[in-house]
Amino acid sequence: MSKKAYLVKGDFISSPKPDQLVLHEDATILVEDGRISEIYEDAPKGASDLEVLDHRGKLIIPGFADVHLHAVQYVTRGLGYDKELLPWLNDYTFPEESRFKDPAYGEVVFKDVARDLWAAGTLHCAIYSSLHTDASLQLMDKLARAGLSAYVGKVNMDRNSVEALEETTEESMEETLRFLEGAKAYADKDVLPILTPRFAPSCSDELMSWLGQKCQELDLPVQSHVNENFGEIAWVKELFPQSRDYLSVYEDFNLLPQGRTIMAHCIHNTEEEMKMFADKDVMIAHCPDSNANLASGIMPAGEMLDAGLRVGLGSDIGGGNRLFIGHAIESAMRLSRLLWFQTDHAYRTISFAEAFHMATAGGGAFFGKTGAFLPGYSFDALVIDDSAFTRYRPLSLFERLQKFIFAGDDRQIAVRYRKGQALAKPLFD
Ligand code: GUN
Ligand code: FE
Repeated sequence: MSKKAYLVKGDFISSPKPDQLVLHEDATILVEDGRISEIYEDAPKGASDLEVLDHRGKLIIPGFADVHLHAVQYVTRGLGYDKELLPWLNDYTFPEESRFKDPAYGEVVFKDVARDLWAAGTLHCAIYSSLHTDASLQLMDKLARAGLSAYVGKVNMDRNSVEALEETTEESMEETLRFLEGAKAYADKDVLPILTPRFAPSCSDELMSWLGQKCQELDLPVQSHVNENFGEIAWVKELFPQSRDYLSVYEDFNLLPQGRTIMAHCIHNTEEEMKMFADKDVMIAHCPDSNANLASGIMPAGEMLDAGLRVGLGSDIGGGNRLFIGHAIESAMRLSRLLWFQTDHAYRTISFAEAFHMATAGGGAFFGKTGAFLPGYSFDALVIDDSAFTRYRPLSLFERLQKFIFAGDDRQIAVRYRKGQALAKPLFD
């Protein structure tokens, strides 16, 4: 059987490695069965009867990956940013998440989340639902219908919540199994389940042990939060006195599967924890907006990259307020520059290429070969019509990318391709 193949023309730019930008201006990419086979700097030689998708004059970048956000906080994003993490969770977040007990609420909110992720060009995400199984499956359904690739977590939390948002240890276990069963329906759409102990303070030892067992038995990935806020870290020390540090709590319960763990925030880490991130090949979800909004601190992104860690960007909706990952790129750069200045240059700034890498190939690595224009990679791309930015003066390809990230938004995204297919706007009704 012949392969489905076509050519794509345009101005391509991607960042396969942290401090590398690869530019292919007025180039042609051969896509076969949804994957990039070849990149021609000029038109391929010889006559070809292949279909041509002609985006000449447009900027083409990899689709974005958001490695940490909460679908159930979409409605309350932007609220309560005069608080720190723990009161913010209790006063805003937990009460809002309790509303997802009602399937009618999830039905409307998740349509908005999926449509807005599609609009923002976030083709891959690792996303939390609430503790409610039905809501979590509804979220999977909406993401699958939007054509997006995702890891979705039914949150586990059997202690330290508010009355309206509680599950017992037994319920948490039973509902996780029901979630994993229901999730099977979406596997062929690249919408997959991920174990999600909310954070160590939300889970009893018994629940953590059980989740660790399931993780090993069923070979499942894990996502959670670590080292976000000093009050949180001190609380974890009290709750788990036997563990060396916060990250070790997860390791002690077998919840850091090799290369298959996403840890959000990772701001205040010990040297041993830095080593453990590397040993377990943890995907660090850098969430600069949330870290600033909740006064959690500034993750030293440059030093994390220098340590060889894998780093992706997270919008962390609703600790973060903007879904567009370009905004997280902007915030990651800004915070690194403030950290450099305020510490008398003890920490380094990150480059544009590093921040763009985190938003694309960096975070994308959790989902497979995506996020860069390289042979063998999935053709997951955004076509950007930036004519509004180039009409007054010409810009280089690199300048066009900067302009789109810092001054643009989803309005410039003309076409989204995932696995080589253009994604139509999801129409849920
Ligand atoms: N830690 C535990 N839960 C949460 C959450 O919902 N948001 C953030 N930012 N941190 C958390
Ligand atoms: Fe979070």
